[in-house]
Amino acid sequence: MCKKPYYITTPIYYPSTKLHIGNTYTTVAADAIARFKRLTGYEVMFLTGSDEHGQKIQRIAEEKGIKPIEHVDEIVAGIKDLWKLMNVNYDKFIRTTDYYHVEAVQKIFKKLYDQGDIYKSSYEGLYCTPCESFWTESQLVDGKCPDCGRPVETSYEEAYFFKMSKYADRLIKYIEDHPDFIQPESRKNEMLNNFLRPGLQDLCVSRTSFDWGVPVTFDEKHVVYVWIDALSNYITALGYGSGNEELMDKFWPADVHLIGKDILRFHTIYWPIMLMALDLPLPKKIFGHGWLLVDGGKMSKSKGNVVDPVTLVENFGVDAVRYYLLREIPFGADGLFNNEVFIKKINSDLCNDLGNLLSRTVAMVEKYFDGVIPAPTVKEDIDDELINLALEAPKKVEKAVDELNLPKALEIIFELIGRANKYIDETTPWILAKDEEKKERLGTVLYNLAEALRFASVLISPFLPGTSEKINEQLGITAIDFESLEGFDGTAPGTKVNKGESLFPRIDVDKKLEELEALRAEQMKAIKAKEEEEKEKEMKPLKEEITIDDFSKIDLRVVKVIDCEPIKKANKLLKLKVDLNGEERQVVSGIAKHYKPEDLIGKYVVLVANLKPVKLRGELSQGMILAASTDDDSILTLVDPGKLPTGSEVR
Ligand code: MSP
Repeated sequence: MCKKPYYITTPIYYPSTKLHIGNTYTTVAADAIARFKRLTGYEVMFLTGSDEHGQKIQRIAEEKGIKPIEHVDEIVAGIKDLWKLMNVNYDKFIRTTDYYHVEAVQKIFKKLYDQGDIYKSSYEGLYCTPCESFWTESQLVDGKCPDCGRPVETSYEEAYFFKMSKYADRLIKYIEDHPDFIQPESRKNEMLNNFLRPGLQDLCVSRTSFDWGVPVTFDEKHVVYVWIDALSNYITALGYGSGNEELMDKFWPADVHLIGKDILRFHTIYWPIMLMALDLPLPKKIFGHGWLLVDGGKMSKSKGNVVDPVTLVENFGVDAVRYYLLREIPFGADGLFNNEVFIKKINSDLCNDLGNLLSRTVAMVEKYFDGVIPAPTVKEDIDDELINLALEAPKKVEKAVDELNLPKALEIIFELIGRANKYIDETTPWILAKDEEKKERLGTVLYNLAEALRFASVLISPFLPGTSEKINEQLGITAIDFESLEGFDGTAPGTKVNKGESLFPRIDVDKKLEELEALRAEQMKAIKAKEEEEKEKEMKPLKEEITIDDFSKIDLRVVKVIDCEPIKKANKLLKLKVDLNGEERQVVSGIAKHYKPEDLIGKYVVLVANLKPVKLRGELSQGMILAASTDDDSILTLVDPGKLPTGSEVR
């Protein structure tokens, strides 16, 4: 039978910074959905990738002294490693530097230009380089970029524009007629009321100030600017514009674009308009999920609160991390990451509920039935609740996944796990085991537990694939089959169980928190040290150019310090007496933090000898002595001319 296609995408990631636990959410969520769809019989195309062009990447590469492609190659390899670590099983990884993507974007741009949707004009605006965004005055927050809070610069350039306004009414109507198109509902209203209804501005779609981008074929100065390049990936990955449109025919329109709420505007306005202009159907659903926040705020390197997914996986295993992400980011809203909540959740849900259910069940089958799952022969009414809950779960979980409500899907599965644990307390197998006549009833209870665990294992496999495999090994389950969940009889009596290690060993919360805190402090120290190092490399901008005549106005002379003392109530200043070829001069200098008076006596230094005398703190200062210092004055050294006769000129 021909399988129904299902196409799900994640955003393509910028290869500019190291990905944190928040970034990994979209892709882990998409992976769980894609796996669930495969499990339920769909032919899935799960696309992810990297968004590699732009001025920021070009600048970073230039700073590193390498080519942009070398820079992105390295980072993209790291992104792929991260997805491997997170057990993300994508079908295709697109890079916007892939030749087929570049060629297709060029064709798209040309087509839109030829049909009059793109036109040439010029742009003057306030530009934020890190965000690669132009802003209007009114969009700025405290005069700075509303997204990242950094300064913006006025920028003017020739550019191509996309006539967004031409399609606005059609898009408004489309959104109104398709209530599922933008999800969750609240985000749909935000897009309609804040952006579409007030009127759309045309979008700047090319740049000339950098060249790390897809070149515009008919105007070589220009490269395609960010969103046409990035958004097209969803169709170029299917071969759009390549001449072979087999995958387009099968998978387009996408079933869902899963994205973070910050890029909703681009996906629900620019992208549908681009597709309308290309005469292509619109994706069925665009889902903007909430953000994973730390201590109530965004993760940022400078705040030192970036949570590293690799550290978490190394400490707790990948499925613990997947579980937390998928269960704790509420449907459509922001979620919080907190080490303590995370560890407690592992202990309660994964260790106590799931882990113990498996270990108790397997242990009892070993103890009472020599490790062989018995046949269910003596049914009692008390079994019905568990069996019915199990039989209802697959449809309920499927519905929740179709609604993209992953926390709900996990809640349903864990309700079944909780019910099975309760069933052990209700049926008290250890008491049944004492009575030989109740052996068959005991066998039924254990069968029901094994079968409930099989349901849990199949249902949980898209979310926690590794854990599902471990359950299968211990319970002798050989096939993960969704259809087999139609009956509560999929476990073959006689199957041998294999006791294994506990799924999620109990974690000592306080000890682990201390360890994580120590690790964080260490990482912070390393980040600070790196920042310091980078800061040191940064130089204050040079002053305006001067001529040799300008310089020759300054008379620099070698002098010797003959006396020195502090100045009362001016703890930064020292009063020096210097000898200038027999003439004694008094100089006040702000070097008390770095030199003691006794260290200076006898030292040769350089004096700006023709500086107009001034009074500092009531003391006459006849010149200034030269010192080299860091910008913040934390390190300062007097310029040492060597022991030349005093009065010698420094040129
Ligand atoms: N390159 C663009 C997307 C282009 S798609 C045609 C981009 N890349 S990104 O690397 O900055 O972001 C990738 C994803 O991570 C986005 O969905 C973004 O919303 C998501 N997240 C970034 N920080 C996040 C959290 N703290 N929490 C959850 N998701 C967050 O945007």
